[in-house]
Amino acid sequence: MDFQTLALPEAGAAGINADALIVVLPATGDLPLFGTAIDAALADALKGGDLERKAGKSVYLPRVAGVKAGRVVLAVARDASAKAFKAAVASALGTVKAGPARHVAVVGGESTAAHAEALAIATGDATYHYTRTKPSAAPAPALAKVTYVVPKSAVATAKAGLGVGDAIVSGMNLARECANLPANFATPTFLGEQALAMVKSHGLEVEVLDRKACEKLGMGSFLSVARGSEEPPKFIVMQYKGGAKKDAPVVLVGKGITFDTGGISLKPGPEMDEMKFDMCGAASVLGTVRAVAELKLKVNLVGLIPTCDNMPSGKATKPGDVVTSMSGQTIEILNTDAEGRLILCDALTYAERFKPQAVVDIATLTGAIVIALGNHNSGLFSPDDALAADLLAASAAGLDPAWRMPLDDEYDELLKSNFADMANIGGRAGGSITAAKFLQRYTSKFPWAHLDIAGTAHRSGAAKGATGRPVPLLTHFVMSRSR
Ligand code: BES
Ligand code: MN
Ligand code: ZN
Repeated sequence: MDFQTLALPEAGAAGINADALIVVLPATGDLPLFGTAIDAALADALKGGDLERKAGKSVYLPRVAGVKAGRVVLAVARDASAKAFKAAVASALGTVKAGPARHVAVVGGESTAAHAEALAIATGDATYHYTRTKPSAAPAPALAKVTYVVPKSAVATAKAGLGVGDAIVSGMNLARECANLPANFATPTFLGEQALAMVKSHGLEVEVLDRKACEKLGMGSFLSVARGSEEPPKFIVMQYKGGAKKDAPVVLVGKGITFDTGGISLKPGPEMDEMKFDMCGAASVLGTVRAVAELKLKVNLVGLIPTCDNMPSGKATKPGDVVTSMSGQTIEILNTDAEGRLILCDALTYAERFKPQAVVDIATLTGAIVIALGNHNSGLFSPDDALAADLLAASAAGLDPAWRMPLDDEYDELLKSNFADMANIGGRAGGSITAAKFLQRYTSKFPWAHLDIAGTAHRSGAAKGATGRPVPLLTHFVMSRSR
């Protein structure tokens, strides 16, 4: 997508050269002025009852007299916030993208960097188009260029915001594409290749460790999950070195279960296909590393991805098996479907070697977080208040909602085992919290946070597909930690 900024012409927006013009107006307060022809069309639409001044409402007007753009969409935003602006633009783009418009100009709203970024991300959401395994897919939307029209004094700020948004979209699209690809395409080997491709394209350092290398490292927990599959496991290590040599890196760890059948603790059949999305944490790490590299942030960033299938077979791990993690702690695997924590714990131990300033793991870890928070907020867990605050600030800045969850030590007792240092499950109650408590046992060496994205990384039903979340949150977090 080509994102541009344009200083609003003195005569107003009517003279703007574009195929479509999206005009965002607030639901309350005085109507802003956009220039005679548009103001007249707007007044007329309101008066005629074609447009209601209510958040989410919009109206499509082809060939408005006196307006250069071939079509105008008037869209109402709840308030002046970037969030409301994004929703209004998204609704307008929904109509525009079905038409022939190649170049869309957008005017209205507060014209801050956050608004510009929101515009870019709304555009990315509207235009992402999956075709890889669908020859009959409709042609991609014609939309190829978006111009944000802002007061002259806001051009530089808007430009910066569009730049950030553009990089985030690039990361989200990579995350979405990897996650949407079915598990017979998006294998651990494939994810490794995606990372390796960024050596050339983005100047990263990448290592893809195979089963043997992981055995050598003592990753007995990770490999116990991979045992049941013919698909070789991989442990991906990506390094972006944009900071000073002495700067401790941020480490992101992404759950990369390329398909989660549950293993011997087999999942029920309905909707099992959605377990191809069980590598959305990994995908968000790939996407965030890409966004950070495109923004050339002055920061050191490490991405770690343990990746494998979780399959039943004659070789698969059985309930009751005890394995030894890389940390030396032993784990009684009471349920082979609680596999995410088993691959993440070894990755967390591996993270120690980077002496990180912070480690954030991202995982479609539990169905319980979907029960707790639904599909809107990601679950944020951290014993470190400062780190949690930074992540919540990044969540707000990226319009990528997250909600902090508790980590009281009382929950940890549920992980007791008679046969190992811990069990891998703690019962149904507070399932997302006991999962986080399990991970916490591997994080004594660094500030740590965990994002459970089982409810937010992908959608079900008619809109089935990956969302690209939480790339916006993570990118803003890494931005906040860069010089
Ligand atoms: N990948 C699943 C969690 C999940 C569920 C992601 C729904 C997306 C949507 C995870 O590996 C899992 O199976 N968790 C179990 C844990 C339980 C066995 C303790 C769960 O949530 O049921
Ligand atoms: Mn599982
Ligand atoms: Zn899983």
